[in-house]
Amino acid sequence: MTTTFTVEAGGSLLGSLRVPGDKSISHRSIMLGALAEGRTTITGFLDGEDCLATLAAFQDMGVPIERPESNTVIVDGVGLTGLKPPSGPLDMGNSGTAMRLMCGVLAGQDFDSTLVGDASLNRRPMRRVTEPLARMGARIDTEDDGTPPLRIHGGQRLRGQEHALAVASAQVKSALLLAGLWSEGETCVTEPAPTRDHTERMLRGFGCPVRRDRGTACVTGGGPLRAGSVDIPADISSAAFFMVGASIAQGSDMLLRHVGVNPTRTGVIDILRLMGASIEVLDRHEIGGEPVADLRVRWAPLKGIAIPRELVPLAIDEFPALFVAAACAEGKTVLTGAEELRVKESDRIQVMADGLAVLGVDCEVLPDGLRIQGRPTLAGGEVRSHGDHRIAMAFAMAALRADAAVTIRDCDNVATSFPDFARLARHAGLGITAA
Ligand code: S3P
Repeated sequence: MTTTFTVEAGGSLLGSLRVPGDKSISHRSIMLGALAEGRTTITGFLDGEDCLATLAAFQDMGVPIERPESNTVIVDGVGLTGLKPPSGPLDMGNSGTAMRLMCGVLAGQDFDSTLVGDASLNRRPMRRVTEPLARMGARIDTEDDGTPPLRIHGGQRLRGQEHALAVASAQVKSALLLAGLWSEGETCVTEPAPTRDHTERMLRGFGCPVRRDRGTACVTGGGPLRAGSVDIPADISSAAFFMVGASIAQGSDMLLRHVGVNPTRTGVIDILRLMGASIEVLDRHEIGGEPVADLRVRWAPLKGIAIPRELVPLAIDEFPALFVAAACAEGKTVLTGAEELRVKESDRIQVMADGLAVLGVDCEVLPDGLRIQGRPTLAGGEVRSHGDHRIAMAFAMAALRADAAVTIRDCDNVATSFPDFARLARHAGLGITAA
């Protein structure tokens, strides 16, 4: 039996909330903390299954890591050459970020290792990292169709390369920059469109200069990383569910506190504002190299739009929630240029279209996106998340505009990114129960 969410129809979202820590930054803080020299103290850490998989992998490779409180982690870094061979395969669970970034880290070690994952991760494409790593000298075996498990042969000499990425992917960029730490010479990655830059920012914070020239980021290997402290803001991707919920539910007024507003992540704010949402960015300041702010979101009538293509990589994880906003908007919303959504934790184009159809929404599936005809009220019904955390949370918010309860099956994986979702959402006014 897996968790089912049952969400009563209607209601509004009110009050002030701090959602859990940023998933992308939490993964990177463990990785760089483990590879640094000295003690790194991490606060605001996301205590979700994905980041705990990264943490457990480094513990298995001999890195002392303590957790004095659930959101605080102390990592005693072992330096770039201090990792030990793991006791067995490293289980990355549901996390594409953990698997792809670890691939970059492990490619440069002098021991063999194997990365495994759950059923969803075992379907996801890995050649996008293994092929460019192979050009640097790495030896990594995938299954015949390019999926995990990944068998990484240690003891290879890596050489810095200039990579021009075909896909706008922060995971691929980060895996290559991390492998660059063990490579001879300079490793440069040019991306086709800007993607989240947490790796570059954090490497700088750990004393590793990252050269940036327009769309290209470069690192030079060899230098030590210096430990320090990392203060992780709330995850804008988790805040996005409440941004959409408050925007669609009449009478809503929410303050989302201390949210990371790195400009490579704020596409969701831009897209919702283009749809007519009322979102104020308050008290903007910088913490540990990352911009943070409070977001005040109030109900506003939304209208359908053509989503600008350049915003797609800047909102890549927020489309399940944005599709729900589109379903409640007046008129038609069209997304194109988002074929990457098909290879996330689920095929987020098809799975969202199937669920929206259950709720009475007329949508047309495109190879690289979705055309959604908004309606004043959604139907209730039973939808499946296909084990995808963000699908589950998006449909929970849809109930705010439904005329009958929405039941969402298969919600266990919400714990990968937002373990306390049901409790916090109930606190804000959503009629959700998890059983
Ligand atoms: C992430 C990058 C994105 C995003 C994922 C987290 C990261 O993936 O979807 O949730 O932390 O680097 P892609 O690089 O595959 O776009």
